Amino acid sequence: MESIIDDRSLAEVGQQRMGWFREQMPLITAIKKTFEKEKPFQDLNIAICLHVEPKTAYWIEALLAGGARHIFLVGCLGTTKPDTAAFLAAKEQVTVLAKEKDTMEDHQRYLEMVMSEKPQLFLDNGASLILAYHQRQRDWLPLGANEETRTGRLLIDDSGYSLKFPVIVIDDSPLKKLLENAVGVGQSVVDGLMRSTSLLLGGKRILVIGYGYCGSGTAGKLRAMGAHTSVYDIDPVYLLKAKADGHRVSEELPALIAEADIIITLTGRFNILTAEHIPHFKDGVILANAGHFGFEIDVPGLTARAASIETVGKGKQMLTFQDKRVFLLEEANPLNLSAGDGNPIEIMDLGLSLQALCGARIATDRSQLITGVQPVPRDIDCLVSRQMINS
Ligand SMILES: NC(=O)c1ccc[n+]([C@@H]2O[C@H](COP(=O)([O-])OP(=O)(O)OC[C@H]3O[C@@H](n4cnc5c(N)ncnc54)[C@H](O)[C@@H]3O)[C@@H](O)[C@H]2O)c1
Repeated sequence: MESIIDDRSLAEVGQQRMGWFREQMPLITAIKKTFEKEKPFQDLNIAICLHVEPKTAYWIEALLAGGARHIFLVGCLGTTKPDTAAFLAAKEQVTVLAKEKDTMEDHQRYLEMVMSEKPQLFLDNGASLILAYHQRQRDWLPLGANEETRTGRLLIDDSGYSLKFPVIVIDDSPLKKLLENAVGVGQSVVDGLMRSTSLLLGGKRILVIGYGYCGSGTAGKLRAMGAHTSVYDIDPVYLLKAKADGHRVSEELPALIAEADIIITLTGRFNILTAEHIPHFKDGVILANAGHFGFEIDVPGLTARAASIETVGKGKQMLTFQDKRVFLLEEANPLNLSAGDGNPIEIMDLGLSLQALCGARIATDRSQLITGVQPVPRDIDCLVSRQMINS
């Protein structure tokens, strides 16, 4: 199958960027060495849905070292780096289906293309592959799958599908929640916000919607930058935690929206900010999402009501309503990946190590795995933690 990417001539640029990431990911380097000897993926076709960026690319090199026959890589929406896509597509054993501006229709088409290859292992993010498999009657049974993120877990639960193979939910690992979500995402969201806007965060009133692992880490990092932070969560327990952590909270979302200079969604749910909120927005408010899917902000609903829409810089749209301007960053795609380079390298070294070792466990030893969802095996959590402590 031919790759579908933006520009093959960017392969050299993608290659040049890899050196730094290879140097800064010691856990993946160690896993790659082990995989070279043990070949856990010998002769397997692997389907992957992940953000196409340099950290993922190095991890894919480790999977290839582990004997994978072919890798079919589908990008996540709005986060593909075209140079990395070109770098990976230049490898004979990798097919990349990922363009910078892919739509949901493109994404669905790619998934069906991958299904026609009958891959034996799914390494998924956002449950795209897992749901695509279960949407139709299939004539093969994969060995199993990983699901990386909270959104994917929620989508699997909401789908009502009775899963046909083991699915290890990386996001159910305490290591993933405590390190990536609570520590890493906040730093990279602040980075994405600063890169996108070049604004001073100190003194701004910033509202974070969703105070789970990612939202609490993000609100904390924003406050450390001098922002006045507000938090809204639909769950009063989490709202109370936000209050106890020192953020301004209210159960009335419109009241918090009305005073916010910047609003960031991080819930994993859809339509959190909609046209219904337009009357409450301050003139000049900036909207951004860092949850897995951009649907947390109802972009079609907002744009349909705008008198005009103007691009005012890379990844920045100004929607003009009767009495106010609303700025939307990165078309609501995850801000840290779309405007920045995603989570800090060490954080993804850790998260991708969990993905690699869980994938290898599914490929080589399913004796302790059940059909359906389950957390990362405890021994893998402990191994990766110890490796990171000592790296
Ligand atoms: N951008 C990234 O790099 C990155 C990394 C990890 C996870 N994620 C994504 O971030 C999102 C949040 O992940 P998490 O680990 O924090 O999940 P979580 O389950 O820990 O937290 C989500 C929070 O949102 C709240 N919530 C749900 N519906 C809401 C609503 N309608 N209004 C207000 N609050 C609501 C929940 O009560 C919960 O407290 C998910 O989409 C996840 O996939 C993004």
